[in-house]
Amino acid sequence: MRPGDFLALTNLPILHLIPPLNASLSRNISDTSTAYTFSRVFSSRDRKTLASTAMSRENAVIRDRESLERKTAAIRSAGASKLQVIADFDGTLTKYSINGRRGQTSHGLLQQGNTEYDEKRQALYDYYHPLEYSPTIPIEEKTKLMEEWWEKTHGLLIEGGLTFDAIKKSVADATISFRDGLVELFEYLEEKDVPVLIFSAGLADIIEEVFRQKLHRSFKNVKVVSNRMVFDNNGRLISFKGKTIHVLNKNEHALDMAAPVHDKLGDPNGSVDDYTMVKNRTNVLLLGDHIGDLGMSDGLNYDNRISVGFLNDNIEKSIESYKEAFDVVYLNDASMWGVVDLVSQLCPSNQ
Ligand code: TMP
Ligand code: MG
Repeated sequence: MRPGDFLALTNLPILHLIPPLNASLSRNISDTSTAYTFSRVFSSRDRKTLASTAMSRENAVIRDRESLERKTAAIRSAGASKLQVIADFDGTLTKYSINGRRGQTSHGLLQQGNTEYDEKRQALYDYYHPLEYSPTIPIEEKTKLMEEWWEKTHGLLIEGGLTFDAIKKSVADATISFRDGLVELFEYLEEKDVPVLIFSAGLADIIEEVFRQKLHRSFKNVKVVSNRMVFDNNGRLISFKGKTIHVLNKNEHALDMAAPVHDKLGDPNGSVDDYTMVKNRTNVLLLGDHIGDLGMSDGLNYDNRISVGFLNDNIEKSIESYKEAFDVVYLNDASMWGVVDLVSQLCPSNQ
């Protein structure tokens, strides 16, 4: 099996899932900055979901509830065939903290089996990561710094002789897990034939391995656009495909570049058909944990976009800018249940 083949797999064990939500609900948004209240018909099997949803709502900050309601209604009335989801990976689909430890990113979990190079990459992380989340560095300057970080790190991975076997072992040993409700979210979207594009500045080969090892399943509607590795016949990393995607260039250029280039290379990241389909879906639900993630939809001439931000760090300093940038901001490493609920409104189960 090639590293990118997970999207096509159908014979993996399926997790026991809470069924998708029944979306007979009425909504009464009562507060601009905290939880909104609602009533819905829940079966007893949905109780766990209800409790989790209520908890995640307590962590939701909504700047302009009327605008959110308007966009929700517009997306719902256009129907699921017009909707697509674009999601960041690290810190968005994955938890920020796991049993008191920082969840690792797709880059961060890598152990090359070469201590010298692992330490060099860690030193880069220690220097650049605080800069990534600094609210005071101007965007142009920060973009240059991020380019520098990614290029140096990818250079070290090649120089240090990373192998695909080391990737598998690293993922097995990693502190990484998906937010609660992620599987149910993807299942619901799969049922509704809504495509999910995971657009990550991380590493595609690792993201796919995380899906394989941590979820033991695939979703036919999910595609990964991220930095993809090229291995030689001995499974040793020799280069990266295409232009580097870092946290601050997830914009039109990155999206345009990703699908056709990977298609030419016979890569499962995307095809011209997928790309056209994505362009035709003019309503977008965007999930990110970084303001730069909003650039993920720049290449699309969308009609409506609902953006959901997960603010995991520096909350006090960053809340104002996140509130301005995202329609909904989730604090305190919230689960995906709030997003599951939002999607059940965008694509009700009876449509
Ligand atoms: P994302 O686009 O999926 O969020 O992935 C990017 C994250 O990866 C970003 O938050 C920084 C992180 N990162 C590391 O943890 N280690 C690294 O060596 C690099 C280059 C990035
Ligand atoms: Mg992220």
